[in-house]
Amino acid sequence: MMLEDIDRVLLTEDEIQQRVAELGEQLSQDYAGKDLVIVCILKGALHFMADLTRKISIPVDMDFMAISSYGASTKSSGEVRILQDLDAAIANRHVLIVEDIVDSGLTLKYLVDNLSSRRPASLKIATLLDKPARRVVPISPDYNGFLIPDEFVVGYGLDYAEKYRNLPFIGILKPEVYSK
Ligand code: IMP
Ligand code: MG
Repeated sequence: MMLEDIDRVLLTEDEIQQRVAELGEQLSQDYAGKDLVIVCILKGALHFMADLTRKISIPVDMDFMAISSYGASTKSSGEVRILQDLDAAIANRHVLIVEDIVDSGLTLKYLVDNLSSRRPASLKIATLLDKPARRVVPISPDYNGFLIPDEFVVGYGLDYAEKYRNLPFIGILKPEVYSK
């Protein structure tokens, strides 16, 4: 059972939905009149993307990029592989990366470098969660849902070994689940 592996709930479904709605309103104001492409980083940002874009009241294009980091499953190695690239070119367009969480920052650093080289008009980052205690490269999201402590979390898109993504809340995984 999934719920037995959760130590405690960090963010409830209601808390997430309320904050996501605020971010959507903010983005609608900030990007009004601009040609905006929202890039969802699969798979973790799937739920955030789906909820966030429905709270944005201006026209947007949506594109998807699937990536995977090599290495141990609770730590990013910084070696990122593109499994699926964007469908469309982003040159001269305003691009917003939608990510689930910034941890070491290595994944986002890679994405920012990669997408910048395609010459977008602007490139910003929206992340649902930020774990600043673990940052190893100086990168900070332009939009962040919640600052969270240094704990491994799952749910609302976030996984451990591909499981728990479908929990509707964000919970802290019992350490014994991943130290087994
Ligand atoms: P970073 O490269 O260390 O910033 O890690 C970013 C990626 O690692 C995220 O996109 C997540 O897929 C994964 N990740 C980092 N922390 C967590 C966590 O607490 N739970 C689940 N996945 C995480
Ligand atoms: Mg992941």
